[in-house]
Amino acid sequence: MEWDESAARQFDINNDRFDALRTLGSTLNEVSDLDMTMETVLSEARRFIGAEAGSIYVRRDGRLILSYAQNDSFDEKGQKKLASYVNQELPVNTNSMASFVVREGVTLNVPDAYNIEVDRPYRFKSDLDKKTGYTTRSTLSLPLKDIRSNVIGVLQLINRRDSSGEIQPFDRTDEELMLIFSTTAALALERTDLIRQMLLRSIKMAELRDHRETVYHAQRVGALAAMLYGEWAARRNLDPVEVKRNTDNLRMAAMLHDVGKVGVSDSVLNKPGRLTQQEREEMQRHVQIGIQVFAPIKTALDEMIADVILNHHERWDGRGYPGWIDPATGLALSGHRTDDGKPKGKKGEEISIFGRVAALADVFDALSSTRVYKDAFDEDLVCQILMQESGHHFDPELVDILLKNLDNARTLRERFPE
Ligand SMILES: [Fe+2]
Ligand SMILES: [Fe+2]
Repeated sequence: MEWDESAARQFDINNDRFDALRTLGSTLNEVSDLDMTMETVLSEARRFIGAEAGSIYVRRDGRLILSYAQNDSFDEKGQKKLASYVNQELPVNTNSMASFVVREGVTLNVPDAYNIEVDRPYRFKSDLDKKTGYTTRSTLSLPLKDIRSNVIGVLQLINRRDSSGEIQPFDRTDEELMLIFSTTAALALERTDLIRQMLLRSIKMAELRDHRETVYHAQRVGALAAMLYGEWAARRNLDPVEVKRNTDNLRMAAMLHDVGKVGVSDSVLNKPGRLTQQEREEMQRHVQIGIQVFAPIKTALDEMIADVILNHHERWDGRGYPGWIDPATGLALSGHRTDDGKPKGKKGEEISIFGRVAALADVFDALSSTRVYKDAFDEDLVCQILMQESGHHFDPELVDILLKNLDNARTLRERFPE
């Protein structure tokens, strides 16, 4: 993202900047996914204030987790390196700036991180600078407080640059504006974290039945599906607002791809060895059960969930399941029946892009992970399988996108280790 000093500072009259802040607030309220919210909070705050970099720390069980980080001065390689440090944990009771903000619940404005007076109760931890080669100077750290005023995290903005590119300290107006913004941001984070926790609980229920479908696998599939769809959409010049909305819903929907397993009998789910034809059909019913769990469709998210669940076992060559069915009845749709009344298979672009993306993300993660019945395959073997299945099981374009973004996929996997 390019920030634009003139755009950020053009609001000579403070009222204009406050008005713009209100618009930011409503942008945040449209998002439902937690990761998308963090990404939006950081990019909007940085753009608004002209900060080159920034981080979000989330407080969980007495620890602070570096949960999101962005830096405009990094090239693609640097961004990936930065992303790989995300998810690092630190205890709250240290003297880091973020810990100080959490403990005291106050805004901390530091003009030069490397020149903090010795009598201050906080220090700048330069570990991340050392690892990434970046130099932090001015920082503005704000507590993110929930509705009961508990500090749930920290929003940190780094290196405000003026129109000539010089790094400047953050000023009083920045502090005031970001304080208002952080209130809205915290509420959005709290709301979307609640949604995420509810989704993970539904997934845990399915996990109790089928141990292959862990919350980690689910989150990795969600993140990978969002990445694949983003790259696919970028090749097509689609409306960015629509892409953002779809990505937001897709990430959550892809996490839920197998929740229907909650309704499949144990004898089938946990049967070692090959399934009989009848057992296979019972297993395949997880698609319809999943759709029933989220019926009736009331929101765009419900619609996306139904789409992903319905299509995640379809194959590009038309040999997947369940094919052209009415999800409510499980029967073949008229005009799409074979001679013996069975549903015809869906193939190619007849399968929704969200289903195609979820299918690839699901299999890629399953192959790359250790399962009860197999070790994790190494990356070369996974890629070989994907190439063999390109145009058969998977959309060839999506396989191409995945193979070109392998390091991205690796970083995403590392965010949700088992
Ligand atoms: Fe499935
Ligand atoms: Fe899965």
